[in-house]
Amino acid sequence: MTNLALSNLAYLLAAVFFILALRGLSSPTSSRIGNLFGMIGMSIAVAATFLIGENLNLLLIFIPLLLGGGIGIYAAKTVQMTKMPELVALMHSFVGLAAVLIGLAAVFNVFESHSTVQRFELFIGAFIGAITFTASIVAFGKLSGKFGAKPIVFKGQHLINLCLAIAMVICGVIYFQSESIAAFIMMVTLALVLGVTLIVPIGGADMPVVVSMLNSYSGWAAAGIGFTLNNSVLIIAGACVGSSGAILSYIMCKAMNRSIISVMLGGFGADATADIASQAERPVKSGSADDVAYLMSNADSVIIVPGYGLAVARAQHALQELTAKLIEKGVSVRYAIHPVAGRMPGHMNVLLAEADVPYEQVAEMEDINGEFSQTDVVLVIGANDVVNPAAKTPGSAIYGMPILEAQKAKMIIVNKRSMAPGYAGLDNELFYSDKTTMLFGDAKKVVEDLVKAI
Ligand code: TAP
Repeated sequence: MTNLALSNLAYLLAAVFFILALRGLSSPTSSRIGNLFGMIGMSIAVAATFLIGENLNLLLIFIPLLLGGGIGIYAAKTVQMTKMPELVALMHSFVGLAAVLIGLAAVFNVFESHSTVQRFELFIGAFIGAITFTASIVAFGKLSGKFGAKPIVFKGQHLINLCLAIAMVICGVIYFQSESIAAFIMMVTLALVLGVTLIVPIGGADMPVVVSMLNSYSGWAAAGIGFTLNNSVLIIAGACVGSSGAILSYIMCKAMNRSIISVMLGGFGADATADIASQAERPVKSGSADDVAYLMSNADSVIIVPGYGLAVARAQHALQELTAKLIEKGVSVRYAIHPVAGRMPGHMNVLLAEADVPYEQVAEMEDINGEFSQTDVVLVIGANDVVNPAAKTPGSAIYGMPILEAQKAKMIIVNKRSMAPGYAGLDNELFYSDKTTMLFGDAKKVVEDLVKAI
């Protein structure tokens, strides 16, 4: 068997592992094995690539491989769970950059002429890669708080984006027809600018959809590299990431009650300044852990709404202890999970699973929303946007996003450290309601105090 046939066979095996990996990652219970399949598939693919290389400079391959791999292992081992989404956004940017660099290398290689199909692939792959690169860097900045989550909107923004997109496509078509290097570079430059201008107007609350769309773009960019390099496994892996990212974006959009178009047009129809948290002091009712422990242990039913603050405080184990104590006292306790609570899909489910919270205590938004009005006490812990009734006010930046209907419960306890807004930067009327008691403090400390008091 020739090396080429052997490598093609190995690529096929790697592709099967990638598909098994995706299957495994679709559920928390099988995600570990899914990850393992992905690693096996990637190892096979990397090893097989050596079989088809000619005149390989092993030093030039192994030094970056070890360097990149080392940085990757370090980043994965040290990253905090709450910083995961920004790490993922940064990784998408690397895939986009790789697509652009490989495209440029191919275009600058004057010794090789490109067929019509190859020029088309280079045109598409490079501009998707360039948009992915800068858009992911802006997403990273927004998620890490370096650029602020506030949407940046200005007059004529959509027109500018449209003009940039048209100019980019025109340059791409000129390259496609004439192989003009200047047109290719111009197209890439316009795509890099477009990546920034497309993402800056997108508000904090819509970032989950953006991240999953960038995930999809990075997959298509990788598939583009696969065409340029004539590498089948890269095409397959890229297509797997591209299509699964697109499906995830669709699911996220449905959960947020948004259309992909409205997210991509960012800030469209919303008065971006109208909702920014008013800094004016307004009175709220606050209580102590002892008061709240008394209320909760005398309730018949309690719903706990966890949010990003729970992850920051790493309070999930203490919360599980609190739940166990309340159940022991005969209180019915359930967790209500919003699809975008936290900072990544399934964030709250992962935290609660880590603390061994039984699956039957955990309910998704659409299953539990009808129960809030018959519930005695709702404990909102480190959550804000996902219970913000502003989502029902036309013109609000989160208008239309479904929320957990905590405001309908008989009594609401909100734990957070201050009156600071959540990710979307909006004030929350729920905190000022007559039915609400604020329980200020770090979630872990507060829950431990509640456990002691009960
Ligand atoms: P947020 O709206 O971000 O609110 C979290 C709250 O937790 C903050 O108001 C903060 O108030 C509080 N907090 C922070 N640290 C705390 C601690 N140690 N102890 C107690 N409280 C603490 O969170 P959410 O309700 O989960 O909503 C998620 C938001 O993130 C949505 O806007 C969503 O669109 C966005 N987002 C989601 C994702 C995914 S995929 N889930 C990805 C990116 C963005 P204090 O500072 O006053 O304590």
